[in-house]
Amino acid sequence: MRENLLFKHDLGDGAELRILEVRHAGEFLRFVDENRAYLGRWLRWGEEIKTLEDTEAFLRRGATQYVEDGLPWMGLWLEGKMVGGVLFFPIEARTMATEVGYWLGEAATGRGLVTRAVKEALDYAFGTHGLHRIALVAEVSNEKSIAVARRLGFTEEGVRRAAGTNAGRYVDMLSFSMLAEEWAQRTSEK
Ligand SMILES: CC(C)(COP(=O)(O)OP(=O)(O)OC[C@H]1O[C@@H](n2cnc3c(N)ncnc32)[C@H](O)[C@@H]1OP(=O)(O)O)[C@@H](O)C(=O)NCCC(=O)NCCS
Repeated sequence: MRENLLFKHDLGDGAELRILEVRHAGEFLRFVDENRAYLGRWLRWGEEIKTLEDTEAFLRRGATQYVEDGLPWMGLWLEGKMVGGVLFFPIEARTMATEVGYWLGEAATGRGLVTRAVKEALDYAFGTHGLHRIALVAEVSNEKSIAVARRLGFTEEGVRRAAGTNAGRYVDMLSFSMLAEEWAQRTSEK
């Protein structure tokens, strides 16, 4: 993956990670439409992305960030159908830190796909960018997302009180992080 500038990575069992591009807008919007209630429960963009223009604007943010930071937003395809994705927030240059986010359509859950995809994304991000720290932040009641963080070995840092919003209410967020040396240690053990 590291050598591939076009970034297409086989995760096995018919699953593939590819860079999300603006040309994927139609497919991305269909994916959001099919999973709106499921995604929208936890992700604001699941509610907000309604039109092709919204979708293109969203994907353009990822593409612009990729140009600026070199860290791509990635779609996850299963047997050729878009089923999810992984993204990074902008790199904080002073601390060489970023944050990872991820999502799946409901039908693709329960088989470890996001755990595998985020692992690949972290290998790439730590392996190519000299990053020092990757954060992962989930709403305290988002048990499935918290389970992903724990499965990947992130360290729990604590609750940031009323640090997020969901459906117009302030919600507590649970912070996790992974440091470069911890990731190197984990991956060398496997
Ligand atoms: C968060 C989210 C991606 C988690 O999805 P998920 O399917 O639970 O996560 P994974 O793909 O890693 O799969 C893990 C599940 O597959 C099972 N599994 C099967 N084979 C597995 C394998 N080889 N490796 C790991 N897990 C495996 C695990 O036991 C787990 O199932 P369980 O929850 O019933 O125990 C999903 O709930 C989602 O998209 N939610 C909406 C968006 C969202 O909340 N995003 C995160 C915002 S912080």
